[in-house]
Amino acid sequence: MRTLISALFIGLMSLTSIQAMAASGGVHLDPVELDLSDKASLQRGAKTFVNYCLSCHQASFMRYNRMAKDIGLTDAQVKENLMFASDKIGDTMTVAMRAEDAKKWFGVTPPDLSVISRARGTAWLNTYMRSFYLDDEKTTGTNNTVFKDVGMPHVLWQQQGYLSHDEETGHLEHATEGELSNYDYNVMIADLVNFLAYVGEPSKIQRLELAKWVLLYLFLLFLVVYPMKKAFWKDIH
Ligand code: HEC
Repeated sequence: MRTLISALFIGLMSLTSIQAMAASGGVHLDPVELDLSDKASLQRGAKTFVNYCLSCHQASFMRYNRMAKDIGLTDAQVKENLMFASDKIGDTMTVAMRAEDAKKWFGVTPPDLSVISRARGTAWLNTYMRSFYLDDEKTTGTNNTVFKDVGMPHVLWQQQGYLSHDEETGHLEHATEGELSNYDYNVMIADLVNFLAYVGEPSKIQRLELAKWVLLYLFLLFLVVYPMKKAFWKDIH
């Protein structure tokens, strides 16, 4: 039984890694550690998302007031820091730009990012946001190692700086420095991916919190039931 389980486990693991390779066209993906219980990380990710992504992409499955509660902010804090003045707290996270304009400007409509963490996987997202590189042949000026000829510009160039790409080795190197160190930029992206993972499966936060109570309940139940069992069976040998 043990060997059967480990065989199944290994089989599953290799399946997921093959899937990850296929999605990246053979480029190595950098995994990222997620922590949906880290509210500070989710708040930083939300801020990055609202400031740098929401102008083009929407997350139409997510409402501001639900997000506020889940990531540990009050409605007032979200209204003040994370919303356009014209939006209402019960609205979904949509964009001001019209889809037709976006198509005209970028050639493609920026997709809704509500479930992108599940569609692409978080390692892919993490790598994607770190792998824009200079490319003269592109109108945006940049290309991406995991999304060839992507229509999206490198929106976080101020933070990361620009990278150049060695075609032969696949190696990325700084051509210009950004405001953030590599380490801080990676943290910024990890927080953003953490936030997108939350947006992709918001009920997971509640499940994790509920799980704690279920375990506590089972533990307390055990404390009651075990002495009872002992008492009942005391005289039976
Ligand atoms: C200036 C507009 C613009 C901004 C700002 C922008 N994007 Fe994009 N993004 C695009 C466009 C256009 C595409 C479609 C690219 C394509 O299909 O070639 C895209 C594609 C993507 C994809 C790939 C989706 C897929 O098809 O799998 C992801 C992921 C993504 N963006 C994430 C982000 C994140 C995260 C931010 C904020 C840090 C952001 N984008 C900011 C325009 C934008």
